[in-house]
Amino acid sequence: MKINENFLNLKDSYLFATVGRKTAEYKKNHPDKDVIRLSIGDVTLPLAPVVIEAMHKAVEDMSRKETFKGYGPDQYCYGYECLIDSIRGSYARKGVTLRPEEIFISDGAKSDCGNILDIFSVDNVVLVPDPVYPVYVDTNVMAGRKIIYADANEANGFLPMPDMSVDADIIYICSPNNPTGAAYSKEQLRAWVDYALKKDAVILYDAAYEFFVTDGNLARSIYQVEGAEKCAIELCSYSKTAGFTGVRCGYTIVPTELVRGGVSLNKLWARRQSTKFNGVSYITQMGAAAVFSEEGEKQCRENLAYYQKNAKTIADCLDGLGIWYTGGKNSPYIWLKCPDGMDSWAFFDKLLEEANVVGTPGSGFGRNGEGYFRLTAFGSAEATEEACRRIREVLKK
Ligand code: MLT
Repeated sequence: MKINENFLNLKDSYLFATVGRKTAEYKKNHPDKDVIRLSIGDVTLPLAPVVIEAMHKAVEDMSRKETFKGYGPDQYCYGYECLIDSIRGSYARKGVTLRPEEIFISDGAKSDCGNILDIFSVDNVVLVPDPVYPVYVDTNVMAGRKIIYADANEANGFLPMPDMSVDADIIYICSPNNPTGAAYSKEQLRAWVDYALKKDAVILYDAAYEFFVTDGNLARSIYQVEGAEKCAIELCSYSKTAGFTGVRCGYTIVPTELVRGGVSLNKLWARRQSTKFNGVSYITQMGAAAVFSEEGEKQCRENLAYYQKNAKTIADCLDGLGIWYTGGKNSPYIWLKCPDGMDSWAFFDKLLEEANVVGTPGSGFGRNGEGYFRLTAFGSAEATEEACRRIREVLKK
């Protein structure tokens, strides 16, 4: 028996596990301190009333013989038609037409970011931005793929553009970006689509934060760029859009026009899913189907406005302190430059010890993240305001 030795090339623990461990240690030694967590991007508002109502109804369905559901329908890899239709409707409002068989329901974008790699050879070269959501890197390290990096930095506004002299086969793009909060315009994405088409590469586009986009020039889906259906897979999630971090539901779009090596990637993914996945629960899918109803979107937008206000509270605090940052506008993340040239973990310790506020050290997202720090707007309004008050007090000294 041999283990997968690629796992030995991973860092000891997942970034958020390290942050969690350090926070727990501090709490253990200082039980009287009120620690505010603005680190992992986990939502704090309850689900929208229409979602709860739909889930209650689905529970009732499960209690009666006539309406009980077992496995989901296999026509769309266990996705219920009403959910697929509601997703198609939400894309239509962004100007994108999808066929039902192009939409695969999942338990969230994180799982599919890793799972989708099953359909690609390990020989492919993977291009990721640096800094980057650790899942893109770790899942490829586990598989033993070669990873190359596109530098994101202050000079390019943390939005790297393609370099034709670099050959990549799989490209990860997350916009609005985790961790930097920076978001590509449709014009900038066009350059990435052109690059992928020229190189015969595939873009894995993580749109988990698209609901936060308010600026019409910015992309909400890569399919808003012509030609993307021939080179891109889009991963999305109800986690941040509708507060489903604890419920688990998302969707992956694999266009029928996406063909590599003469093979339809849509067919490969359908084959993979029908073998390794048995779908998302009926109750969850019914809740998700309520999200893109007229009333559902209205209620989810109200929750979103709450988080956007938190983002503004943090941005105003940083403006007042003269600290450079990206994000916060079309994104729930604020990516700031650590003051006084501090490194990311030194700033983490300072905020934890002096302000009792927990954020995420930028260096945990890659080499270019060193000297930066991420705060999230997903906390409660009271906690966010209190955290900013403490940060102001500590950094003004
Ligand atoms: C984050 O904090 O980066 C996200 O919550 C992680 C995730 O969505 O998996």
